[in-house]
Amino acid sequence: MNETDVELFNDSIERCSCRPEFLNRFYTLFLASSDTVARKFEHTDLRAQARMLKTSLYMMMSATYESERVVHLERLARRHSRSDLDIKPELYDLWLDRLVQAVKEFDPMFDIETETAWRRVLQPGIEFMKSRY
Ligand code: HEM
Repeated sequence: MNETDVELFNDSIERCSCRPEFLNRFYTLFLASSDTVARKFEHTDLRAQARMLKTSLYMMMSATYESERVVHLERLARRHSRSDLDIKPELYDLWLDRLVQAVKEFDPMFDIETETAWRRVLQPGIEFMKSRY
C-alpha cells in the first residue's frame, strides 16, 4: 500500500458513499455468497451494520500505522474471533471480493487501479483480523 493507493481508495469510497444503497448492496452480495455468512447475520439490523462498516473501513485503512486505530482493530478482531462471533479466516476473502464487486457497481470511475487500491489498502487489516482468529 502506498500514498496513491490510499488516495484512490479514499476518492472511490467517497464516490460510492454518495449513494446510500452502496453498503446495502454489499451486504446483499455478501449474504448471498454463502449460507454460513447468511446465518451469521440472521439477527442483524443491516442498516446499523452498514453504518458501522463504513467507519471500520477507514479504520482498516489506518491499520498499519496509527497505534490508536490498531487498538480499535484489536477490539474488532477479538469480536470476530473464535471465542465470540467465530468468523473463519476464509470468509474474509469472500468479504473482500463482494465488497470490490459492490464498488465496481457503484463507483462510476472504477477501473483496475481502483480495484487494486481497495485490495491493497484493506489487506493489512484483513491479515490482522485473520491472524487473531
Ligand atoms: C475485515 C473485514 C470486516 C470488517 C471491517 C468488519 C466490521 C464489523 C463491524 C464494525 C462490526 C460491528 C462490531 C460490533 O458489534 O461492535 C461487525 C460485526 C459483525 N461482523 Fe464483521 N467485519 C468484517 C468481516 C466479517 C466477516 C468476514 C464476517 C463473516 C460472516 C463478519 C460477520 C459479522 C457479524 C455476524 C457481526 C455481528 C453482527 C451483529 O451484531 O448482529 N464480519 N463487523
